[in-house]
Amino acid sequence: MSKTLAIIKPDAVEKNVVGEILSMITKAGFKVLALRMVNITRAQAGAFYEVHKERPFYGELVDYMTSGPIVPIALELKDGVAFEEFRKLIGSTDPAEAAEGTVRKLYGESKAINAIHGSDSSENAEIEIGFFFAANELVKNGR
Ligand code: RTP
Ligand code: MG
Repeated sequence: MSKTLAIIKPDAVEKNVVGEILSMITKAGFKVLALRMVNITRAQAGAFYEVHKERPFYGELVDYMTSGPIVPIALELKDGVAFEEFRKLIGSTDPAEAAEGTVRKLYGESKAINAIHGSDSSENAEIEIGFFFAANELVKNGR
């Protein structure tokens, strides 16, 4: 069992494709442990993507992630490494380079505006899940 954090980003929420994306996620075998729709502050968006704070796109990234509601989703995968399998499902950062059938290929606009987030390690998945959900908000032991 391993976990990852997904975020359906503001462009995909605005396009009204939360349901389609959630369906792709569950059909790929991920189990939803927690889910909500929220607006985050600039400080929260900046902290979430703090690793990128020196990058030229950081300001735009904070603008983007605070431009509308987002849907963070804590996910679990029984077989395989959740963050790795999830990043295969969403495709490359740039939708133009993403494989056919991936979430970003289907719904992303550009390298910056790319529909969905996925954690990049199991360690970061735990940290990122904690960013949006308290431990007692996650489904436990199949309940
Ligand atoms: P994410 O963290 O959102 O899952 O995306 P990622 O791992 O595929 O890509 P990362 O390098 O972590 O970048 C985080 C997000 O910043 C925006 N970005 N814009 N304009 C640009 O060149 C650029 N590069 C990255 C994207 O929204 C990307 O998902
Ligand atoms: Mg990343």
